[in-house]
Amino acid sequence: MVLRGRAHDLASELVADIAGIAAAAPFHHQITPGGKPMSAAMTNCGALGWITDARGYRYAGTDPQTGRSWPPMPTLFEGLARDAAAEAGFPDFRPDACLVNRYVPGARMSLHQDRDEADFTQPIVSVSIGLPAIFLWGGQARADRPRRVPLLHGDVVVWGGPDRLVFHGVHPLGEGTHPLTGAVRYNLTFRRAG
Ligand code: SIN
Ligand code: FE2
Repeated sequence: MVLRGRAHDLASELVADIAGIAAAAPFHHQITPGGKPMSAAMTNCGALGWITDARGYRYAGTDPQTGRSWPPMPTLFEGLARDAAAEAGFPDFRPDACLVNRYVPGARMSLHQDRDEADFTQPIVSVSIGLPAIFLWGGQARADRPRRVPLLHGDVVVWGGPDRLVFHGVHPLGEGTHPLTGAVRYNLTFRRAG
């Protein structure tokens, strides 16, 4: 479900919170198990953060870059995620992880499933801020041809239930500048990881 503009009025506060998170846990191009740097720079907040390195994909309670716990999830983030999930039919969402993705023009995310979490009955909530992107919404199999869904500043996507493991990704970001973020798209992805 796409909740158009659901985060629009909160966006400047969200960006200020992202800056605070990045001051404690800097954005970083993590390395995939295959040895390539991720195209999007990432950081996390909340009890758990999504990480990748030569040993694989997983969640961790500390930032491997700093050795410290991830910054706490701002109340604003958690409230937005819970409200959006409830609106989409998931009243019991309790996120413990928020991955913050930072894309610049040309950055992308190839088709993947979110499957490093413990409980697939909990949905995923994804918040888009800044430059627009084309979200690729695939199927249950990697080979299913994805639909192209434009995601604009302030849009929130929720997926779960039978769609929890749908393949999804982000088409290479186009050039542009956004009044709030400059030449950047942020994406907040909320999950129940542990
Ligand atoms: C993700 O799948 O983790 C990111 C999706 C997005 O950036 O919209
Ligand atoms: Fe994902």
